Amino acid sequence: MIAAGTDFAQQFAARGVAVIDAALPTPLWEALRAEAGAERQAKAWSLKSSGNPGEINQENLRGHLGPVARAYLSSADTAGLLLGVTGRPLEPSWSASCYTYYDIPGSYMGEHCDKFDACRIALLTYLDVRRPEGQPPGPGLQLHVFRGDNSGTELVARITARSNRVVILNGGEQAHFRPPLGQGESVVMLAGCFRVAGAA
Ligand SMILES: [Fe+2]
Repeated sequence: MIAAGTDFAQQFAARGVAVIDAALPTPLWEALRAEAGAERQAKAWSLKSSGNPGEINQENLRGHLGPVARAYLSSADTAGLLLGVTGRPLEPSWSASCYTYYDIPGSYMGEHCDKFDACRIALLTYLDVRRPEGQPPGPGLQLHVFRGDNSGTELVARITARSNRVVILNGGEQAHFRPPLGQGESVVMLAGCFRVAGAA
């Protein structure tokens, strides 16, 4: 795992999100991608909103974490990276962490903030990102991040999904969403949620 540099901490301080490319050593990235694929086949479940008030609008698939993901999220390297970038001691929040699959056209994630206690900071690790050859990334391949807790505030970043890109996000306080993916586009990622270490 790449060490946290000042640049990433500055990015995070300035806009609540830091983007790290070629973040993981290839063997770890490949092992996570393989585990995500196996979970997708075995027992992924669909999250599809039914339009109830207070519910996040979304349509995507989720998968349980396996031992590779758990080891990665709970490693000293990951804790060190998160501390260096966010300035906070953090620990994984297992109940809120999962593999996420946007691999059916139209999959999306509506506007929301993450649960403040369970997911103070999100560590998004993009494992497999695809789009039609020769086409620029469509809106669904971009995570839209806002300055405040709703999309009426300033749009501070549109982060394109790329394989082996890691995004550290102040998701508990800053609204974010992913528009629907187009034909031929797909994203598989590990959505790691972290809470402040030692908090009740
Ligand atoms: Fe989120």
